Amino acid sequence: MKITFLGHASLYLELPNATLLVDPFISGNEKAKNHVDVDGLNPDFILVTHAHQDHILDVEPIAKRTGATIVSNFEIAEHYSAKGLKTHPMNHGGRWEFPFGTVQYVNAIHTSSFPDGSYGGQPGGFVIKTTEKTIYIAGDTALTMDMKLIPMHYTLDLAILPIGDNFTMGVNDAVIAADFVNCEEVLGYHYDTFGYIEIDHKKAVETFKNAGKTLHLLDIGSHIVI
Ligand code: NI
Ligand code: MN
Repeated sequence: MKITFLGHASLYLELPNATLLVDPFISGNEKAKNHVDVDGLNPDFILVTHAHQDHILDVEPIAKRTGATIVSNFEIAEHYSAKGLKTHPMNHGGRWEFPFGTVQYVNAIHTSSFPDGSYGGQPGGFVIKTTEKTIYIAGDTALTMDMKLIPMHYTLDLAILPIGDNFTMGVNDAVIAADFVNCEEVLGYHYDTFGYIEIDHKKAVETFKNAGKTLHLLDIGSHIVI
């Protein structure tokens, strides 16, 4: 599985038989827009964790251009379905077998209004299990005991966790989250985009290292293969 960091909480996952885009916020991200070609992204599916602008900004144009299926909570799926886009609605705890593997929509503690203030359902994260690898994409969330449910069902190869603090958990709580989900390999996201969430990279990496874990921080546009 090739995972490319598109800045903020945006990810591009290249799986053996599908390409997934997660929470696309690129055209409005000063740090990303010169490093990522939005028109070059060709996802089969677009996964959306919640309705905040910094997670949905580019969903509509990309879905329109590519015909990708938007996978999200029921309310967000309804929102895009009403615009004539292809969607797959889910809700917390539910799993679905997609052609590329199983997806479960899991709990997150956050909020989820659309930019106009309308209801965007409840926020979540995704566990994606393919025949090769299993990853957890936490979405925007606080540290929550619910994370302990994840290793009851899955053995994770990678946990993708927000580390920017202020709007989500920060580095210290993300270390505990990695413990809760029983995963030593962490990709950090949701940091540095805005003033509120700037972090000290060296200190963050060191904090994970001291806990016996590895924090990967990717430059925008670069990738890891797991
Ligand atoms: Ni948010
Ligand atoms: Mn966010």
